[in-house]
Amino acid sequence: MTAILPEHVPVITIDGPTASGKGTVAHRVAKALGWSVLDSGALYRLTALAALRRGVPADDEPAVARVAQALDVRFDGPHVYLDGAEASHDIRREEVGNFASRVAAFPGVRQALLERQRVFRQPPGLVADGRDMGTVVFPDAVLKVFLVADVVARAERRRKQLIEKGISANLDDLLRDMRERDARDTQRAAAPLAPAPDARILDSSNLTIAETVQAILDFWREAGAGAA
Ligand code: DC
Repeated sequence: MTAILPEHVPVITIDGPTASGKGTVAHRVAKALGWSVLDSGALYRLTALAALRRGVPADDEPAVARVAQALDVRFDGPHVYLDGAEASHDIRREEVGNFASRVAAFPGVRQALLERQRVFRQPPGLVADGRDMGTVVFPDAVLKVFLVADVVARAERRRKQLIEKGISANLDDLLRDMRERDARDTQRAAAPLAPAPDARILDSSNLTIAETVQAILDFWREAGAGAA
């Protein structure tokens, strides 16, 4: 049996702003196709959590880059382990997300995480979600989706998620945080959040998750899925 070269493994990238529903959508698209999934934001969040735990300040680029380089992580389905201990819940904290968004602006941190992301490209295929999946990490992806949603719709979704987890949340605070994070993600010099020139833009403000997943599967069929 001949080994399949990584560059021959099809990738669908789903990039977009925070709380655009990328994570859920990426998992469902991957499930429908029988592919694996890369939640690249989790790697930035794990870097943030590890740095916070070690007391590394968010403005110390070389120190945070060293943390990213040495990250001891393991993914097992929906579970994420940091230094051998389950961290799936901790990485979702707002404090960790904000720290992640700050240190994600550092080229040294992005470089340290680049190869870790590419090893997820395994047969039969990969759905990768993040900010720069289509522009930097997998520029040769066969389908690139840029998922957008109105900031108020996103803040409301995030509030619902938090309330479901028993965490109280104020819509105005969430909106302010989300706008700040959007601004940081889009205005940074290194791999800013932006659609690849060949990305399909999908606005999910008025779509259910099932409709969004279906739209991506339709794009995939249009992109010549039969050929893969
Ligand atoms: O998708 P998320 O909210 O879990 O990502 C957390 C932060 O990580 C986000 O604010 C920006 C950063 N990030 C990034 O810069 N590049 C990626 N590919 C994924 C996430």
